[in-house]
Amino acid sequence: MTQLNETEIKEVVKERYGNLAREASAGEATSCCDDGCCGAEAELDVIMPLYTGTDTEGLPIEAIAASAGCGNPTALASLSPGETVVDFGSGGGIDCFLAARQVGESGRVIGIDMTQDMVNLANSNARKLGLSNAEFRLAEIDNTTLDNDTADIIISNCVINLAPDKDSVFQEAFRILKPGGRMMISDMVLVDDIPNEEAEDTANWVACLAGAEMKDVYLGRMETAGFVDVQVASETALDSNEGWRAAVRSMNIQASKPV
Ligand SMILES: C[S@@+](CC[C@H](N)C(=O)[O-])C[C@H]1O[C@@H](n2cnc3c(N)ncnc32)[C@H](O)[C@@H]1O
Repeated sequence: MTQLNETEIKEVVKERYGNLAREASAGEATSCCDDGCCGAEAELDVIMPLYTGTDTEGLPIEAIAASAGCGNPTALASLSPGETVVDFGSGGGIDCFLAARQVGESGRVIGIDMTQDMVNLANSNARKLGLSNAEFRLAEIDNTTLDNDTADIIISNCVINLAPDKDSVFQEAFRILKPGGRMMISDMVLVDDIPNEEAEDTANWVACLAGAEMKDVYLGRMETAGFVDVQVASETALDSNEGWRAAVRSMNIQASKPV
């Protein structure tokens, strides 16, 4: 784990993703993250085109340029019209916009992100799309300020690895889900230990590597928070999986809150 404390970790993460948001807004984020972040365009690509052409059709270029995920949670979430979706770490909003299409006008999508420039970008993208069923709020995913039992489903795409206190994140997720609600997470997870010097490197933290945890630890935290049916639906190795990076996987993880 990095030598930085919790507050310092959040500050470096905000700085990194604030830069990405500003670059995407200015049309400069042609290849996400010269200095490393999560995402399909990053130097640590996962092996997959995350989104189909149908997914991205009609989305603002600024939403696509800011995309920094490691999966496509709405493709797996089986969303239904009328559902309320909360996205933990919504970034430029791409997954919220895909969710908004699926839940329709009778549904609701709430994106939560702690980086002001990302929230501004997502709101700007939502205005371009003329959406009335999606909103973006500045908050931390371990303290969303949403009411108990708000969401039918929580999605999250390459974010929880960046959180220093993952237990609090899963407790918050459990609190705001309705009974019987579900989670569909894409995230970086380890299948083997990574060397201490890599785990302590802040650049590896903001690149979604050093904050990744072993699979059994990660799933165990979800179970401790109260989730049931916690399962890895699928996992993918990184494109750049030489050396210690072979220990890192992009995993799609599902879980439920008991009825
Ligand atoms: C790798 S990006 C992923 C963004 C988006 N999910 C996507 O797929 O494009 C991580 C995002 O999570 C946000 N984030 C990281 N830690 C957070 C926390 N503790 N609370 C709220 N947002 C957080 C960052 O500001 C950033 O926008």
